[in-house]
Amino acid sequence: MRLAAQRQSTTGTPSERASVGDVRKVYRGRDIEVSFDLDLCVHIGECLRGHHGVFNLERRPWVLPDEADVDAVAEIVERCPSGALLYRRLDGGASEEHQGTKVTPIRNGPLLVTGNVEVRREDGTIESLPRATLCRCGFSKHKPFCDNQHLAIDFQAPGLPFKIHLSPVRPRLKEPISKSEDPRRLS
Ligand code: SF4
Ligand code: FES
Repeated sequence: MRLAAQRQSTTGTPSERASVGDVRKVYRGRDIEVSFDLDLCVHIGECLRGHHGVFNLERRPWVLPDEADVDAVAEIVERCPSGALLYRRLDGGASEEHQGTKVTPIRNGPLLVTGNVEVRREDGTIESLPRATLCRCGFSKHKPFCDNQHLAIDFQAPGLPFKIHLSPVRPRLKEPISKSEDPRRLS
């Protein structure tokens, strides 16, 4: 099963369909392409912790896919819970695969879904992702995706804890930086 983010209209012709490039930035390497959608990011910091050569905020572009072995890059991207980071192998290597679709409640936070996630929007577009963090507190301004508003309202619910890695995009456990402050919006 090959899973990649895409938006498609159920009614439009191919030329009318919104493409990944509308919201995603694409970082193409020799053997692998990495893409990033800041709107989906929940600021866990797995990317920045994963490999300083590949994911580095002090540089533009902040993602350089060729700075590590292609399998290592794919493995780091798959640790991104929100689907903000995705990859596409250009070397013929295996694409991201999941056995079925799983829903895991995150303690005091969103539902983590892995598998073949299709999110249908009001305008009829469908976003397909292999991973997603979906709001369950009801306060996200970017529903159905989590945007960390659960932190602002001190949402309490049982579940597995996220491992949060403090980083420039998450300087404090309970307070990610805003999207307008995030350096990744520019690179
Ligand atoms: S959700 Fe976490 S791992 Fe994914 S891009 Fe955002 S900070 Fe990086
Ligand atoms: S669960 Fe994160 S914003 Fe609702």
